[in-house]
Amino acid sequence: MSDKKVRVEIVEEVALICIDNPPVNASGLAVRQGIVAALEEISAAGSIGAVGLYCAGRTFIAGADITEFGKPLQEPGLPGVCDTLENFDTPIVAVIHGTALGGGLETAMGCHARVALPSAKVGLPEVLLGILPGAGGTQRAPRLAGIPNALDLILSGRHVAAQEALEMGVIDRIMEGTPRDVALAAAREVVAGTLATRRTGTLQTAPDDAAIATTLAHVQQKHPQLISPQKCVECVAASTGDLQEGLAFERAAFMECLASPQSKALIYAFFGERAVANIPEKTAQARDIGSLGVIGGGTMGSGISTAALMAGLPVTLIEVTQEALARGVATITSNLEGAVKRGKMGAAARDAALARLTASTEMQSLSEVDLVVEAVFENMEIKKEIFGKLDGICKEGAVLASNTSYLDINEIAAMTGRPQDVLGLHFFSPAHIMKLLEVVAGENTAPQVVATGFALAKKLRKVAVRAGVCDGFIGNRILGYYLKAASYLVLDGAHPDQVDRALEGFGFAMGPHRVGDLAGLDIGYMTRKRLAATRPPEERYSGAIADQLSENGWNGRKSGKGYFVYDGRETLENPDLNAIIAEARAKAGITPRDFSVAEIVERYMTAMISEAARVVEDGIALRPVDVDVVFLMGYGFPRFRGGPLHYADTIGAAELVRRIEAYAEEDAHYWQVPDLLRKMAADGTTFADLNKGK
Ligand code: 3HC
Repeated sequence: MSDKKVRVEIVEEVALICIDNPPVNASGLAVRQGIVAALEEISAAGSIGAVGLYCAGRTFIAGADITEFGKPLQEPGLPGVCDTLENFDTPIVAVIHGTALGGGLETAMGCHARVALPSAKVGLPEVLLGILPGAGGTQRAPRLAGIPNALDLILSGRHVAAQEALEMGVIDRIMEGTPRDVALAAAREVVAGTLATRRTGTLQTAPDDAAIATTLAHVQQKHPQLISPQKCVECVAASTGDLQEGLAFERAAFMECLASPQSKALIYAFFGERAVANIPEKTAQARDIGSLGVIGGGTMGSGISTAALMAGLPVTLIEVTQEALARGVATITSNLEGAVKRGKMGAAARDAALARLTASTEMQSLSEVDLVVEAVFENMEIKKEIFGKLDGICKEGAVLASNTSYLDINEIAAMTGRPQDVLGLHFFSPAHIMKLLEVVAGENTAPQVVATGFALAKKLRKVAVRAGVCDGFIGNRILGYYLKAASYLVLDGAHPDQVDRALEGFGFAMGPHRVGDLAGLDIGYMTRKRLAATRPPEERYSGAIADQLSENGWNGRKSGKGYFVYDGRETLENPDLNAIIAEARAKAGITPRDFSVAEIVERYMTAMISEAARVVEDGIALRPVDVDVVFLMGYGFPRFRGGPLHYADTIGAAELVRRIEAYAEEDAHYWQVPDLLRKMAADGTTFADLNKGK
């Protein structure tokens, strides 16, 4: 087998071009050069009636090679390659299998016909990377599929199944077979005249001013901070005129997006989600997980059960009483129903999932499961008791996991005679929807058991991040710290609504007070009570306002009232909140002052970054990127800012140290410069540097 990334094979009157650039056939320089060379070779061969272009391996071209972004462009560029394909004298048919994404679909649209295998998907996901289809996609997609379909593809970035792509007009036919066989057959059909070909660029886009105007208004309202969605719409609007002018317009917009900090952050997030799999235990053999036990049928336990059932695993759910068990089963059933409604599964798959569920009040029913997740009330004594029992019940080699959000995994593991089999699997609520899983490695957890946590995450289609043991692990430890900054802001003079709006303006989906109301204020209340004895006397108490809300029984959305009042879908002001705030300020002897939006964001983000730096410094997170992925996937951190530590690099360690030192003049206990940040400020390193080589 040749090691060339692009090969030509002549079969009688047709030529086949095979692209072979594992793992995903990204169109890097060698592929682009190879396609151009292949076309020259075919021209030179003469008497070829049609060309079939297909890919080896698991997928058609999955896009431009993202690792080349930010480096000087080496010719031929992808737009030029697509033009060369389109202008080639002999008709070319692209044969799509796997996923034709971004530059991959653009390459196919540069060809003269597109055939897909039934399982293939196509998409233009560039917007998710803060860019836009920059190799003719914004010009050719509307020519093939019309403006509304093109806008849908380009702005959603979704993967469209072959049948839908056919209906849209993006592809011309669905054929079964191996990619090579289909390429050969399709090219022969082109020669025979039974598969029509045309140059996409010669088609005329039908204008649709109404669709453009509505979509533009929608993206401006939904993503006011994002550059690329708006640029995408403008490019599609430019597709109704001359092709070359449209392509030039697209090129300029693409370069502008690519140069933006937003695309750098989004591309960092894309690679970050994959980089977190690089753990010290990655070569350890994961144990086979063929079945799961879940203890606790509350929101978390039911969500975890749902996720496992949806991934095809049998689940045994344990609760103490028949009533609690029935509630758990009802929640799982309704979660699965929701998945059917969202189009995630069909009715038959739902029934099969429910058939995999066993419900029991006997812990003994867990004797044969491969992995148990304990998801009961956050109470150390109860958890210890459960793990003691599990030790006597579970088979040898079973993995014993706790879904605790804060508690010490080592203390829990010590209740068993097999601490090597114990780890934390911290799911995020709703566990069947949220994609993050913190895999918490205790001091005695075996490497195979950590690897099993990662393998389980993959099975559940989640992203696992490795965390060490401390109160709150990566995410909740940092959260616990910066929420105090939010509370201090309110105690010192800001209003919760003002704080929320400032942070929503920064890009968070919801501000901390709205999130608190959604999650339930009782959680924080109980945590503060649990930690009260360990709170150092010099720490300024931050919980006075939230405590009062909980003591009034106002625990947020579920009680209809918290920082805000909830009336159906409406969020209204809580008329009693100002009095509670005033009382807390008076008790603490605070004279309130005004805060600007900028100062709110600055203090909140500096707090988040400080604790995140300490989490890296303490080795709780392996690298800065692990913290960033936790925040992007579990805490609604704005993806276009890349995560707290990617964002920190845009501020710089020296400035962060300066800020913390200034704040420390008011509160030297809360605001302390992390050693790591001080060192970074001194030697000029960045968090990006710390990610490298790890
Ligand atoms: N460029 C470079 N590397 C890429 C890549 C790309 N476009 N797409 C995937 N990879 C790498 C991944 O980083 C990963 O590397 P690793 O093994 O070292 O971590 C490896 O390929 C395999 O990827 P996944 O683990 O994601 O494999 P999956 O099978 O789960 O998913 C996929 C495959 C659906 C193709 C997914 O990788 C994906 O969505 N890729 C990105 C697609 C995309 O965004 N394309 C548009 C690119 S921008 C563009 O084309 C610009 C153009 O308009 C000019």
